[in-house]
Amino acid sequence: MKPTYLAPSLLAADFANLERDIKMVNASEADWFHVDIMDGVFVPNISFGMPVVQAITRHATKVIDVHLMIVDPDRYIQTFADLGATHLTVHYEACTHLHRTLQAIKAAGMKAGVALNPHTPVDLLKDIISDIDIVIIMSVNPGFGGQSFIENTYKKIRSLKEIIITHNASTLIEIDGGVTDQNAAKLIDSGADVLVAGSFVFKAQDPVETISQLKKLIS
Ligand code: DX5
Ligand code: ZN
Repeated sequence: MKPTYLAPSLLAADFANLERDIKMVNASEADWFHVDIMDGVFVPNISFGMPVVQAITRHATKVIDVHLMIVDPDRYIQTFADLGATHLTVHYEACTHLHRTLQAIKAAGMKAGVALNPHTPVDLLKDIISDIDIVIIMSVNPGFGGQSFIENTYKKIRSLKEIIITHNASTLIEIDGGVTDQNAAKLIDSGADVLVAGSFVFKAQDPVETISQLKKLIS
């Protein structure tokens, strides 16, 4: 079996009890922390900024997977590296010089990711796929947690997997939005490597147990 990763999204955590929720994820079977940064311009919502990211990295003991939903992300690459991000993903739709941006992320010592909105075809990545460590296929329109999963995602995963295989690349496919126990296994079977789960984990009665169930479904 290929390795698979589960990344709870802290967007759905209780911000008044952030340390508690981070420690819960540390102690759970989850693999990564998914950290959503929204600027109110690229997406119609604002999440949180640098001081909160700093608080997260102070307590988190796993991979810090930062998802930038912001315009002009190049301005903040070094800042996120300094704050302790290990993986940094920018949106295809927000980058004019994507290749240069990816090189800058890697030069700052992080894994470089590209996220695609639901309307953006995966084919647009074929000429740079070998430069990308992770592709996040958005399975909801970015901006909010708790939305329903877009079914066309499976088709995009299969097409992207073909591109990755054709180019002999080692790019991971990450799925973000509306992930639950109902679609997790099918997403992995379609070719995904990493699943983000926000509300499904944090709104559960027992988040540790929910993480464990999701991990079983995808292993
Ligand atoms: C959406 C964010 C997601 C979100 C996922 O814009 O990028 O990471 O937190 O939340 P759920 O799992 O609730 O759809
Ligand atoms: Zn995200």
